[in-house]
Amino acid sequence: MAIKLNSFINLSHLVYLTSQWLEIIVRFIYSLILIIYYWCESIMFSFIPERYLTKDVSKETVLITGGGNGIGMQLAVKFARKGCKVVIWDIDECGLRLTQKVINELHGKCWTYICDIRDRKKVYETAKLVKCEVGNVTILINNAGFADKKLFLDKNDEEILRTLEINTHSHFWTCKAFLPDMMAQNHGHIVSIASLAGYAGIVGLSDYCASKFAVVGFTESLRMELLAQNYNGIKVTEISPYFLHNTKMFSGVQSRILPILKCETVCERILFAILCNKSIAYIPYGFRPLLTLKS
Ligand SMILES: *[C@@H]1O[C@H](CO)[C@@H](O)[C@H](O)[C@H]1NC(C)=O
Ligand SMILES: *[C@@H]1O[C@H](CO)[C@@H](O)[C@H](O)[C@H]1NC(C)=O
Repeated sequence: MAIKLNSFINLSHLVYLTSQWLEIIVRFIYSLILIIYYWCESIMFSFIPERYLTKDVSKETVLITGGGNGIGMQLAVKFARKGCKVVIWDIDECGLRLTQKVINELHGKCWTYICDIRDRKKVYETAKLVKCEVGNVTILINNAGFADKKLFLDKNDEEILRTLEINTHSHFWTCKAFLPDMMAQNHGHIVSIASLAGYAGIVGLSDYCASKFAVVGFTESLRMELLAQNYNGIKVTEISPYFLHNTKMFSGVQSRILPILKCETVCERILFAILCNKSIAYIPYGFRPLLTLKS
């Protein structure tokens, strides 16, 4: 009797193990089919001309932080050309006025606000003002950034905090201010300008790299959270460019290997990535295999 019971237990255990293995095999084949499907899809898309892949943004309201100079300014002009309502935030009043002037000359629509994004309360206040005066923001571009090249121990506490507040914390506050409206309509786009410094450490930019690593993590989590909650109409895009030429921020940075990127090239690529709903855009594109190797 005892022997019989024993073999029964063994048998049920065997059935259990087999079913587990079957499940793993089925899942594996399913994943393989998905991978092949997405490969075919992306190969197909590479034959379609770019203009059929980009979305129409002429009815959107775009908010760009740090829109008073550099990439922010050029992006603002590009979006105004596409017919969007453009809202720019900056602490540099001259820069704001200059951007507005350029956009007005193109008969674009531009609103400017002085806002220190390090100040959470100011962000919420200004966001309220924007909603009253312009309307709901549907594309949020967290672009403002700050970098200061110094060895870690040469930076004082205030400088380190400032880097994190501008480059990382501000993303939290602006997303908190504008995401709920996007969710109510299941329509919107959040864009984080990160950096390739969000994937690799760099001498003299320790706090900057830390802040960009954080942005990369935040953006990825936000994208997954929105998908998990079925907000498929809200896109989240991370843009990671290499160092930029002719912006104030990297005036002291030199590169021995790759030429530093031109602002105009980068802006074109950023615009294209946003209009295609890309999840991540590395600029230049050639960095992708390197990052894959690193991970
Ligand atoms: C703005 O978003 C709110 C939801 O947060 C919605 O009630 C309102 O209708 C929206 N306004 C417009 C003009 O779409
Ligand atoms: C991008 O996403 C929006 C919102 O889901 C969608 O309406 C649009 O067709 C998409 N465009 C492209 C090019 O994927």
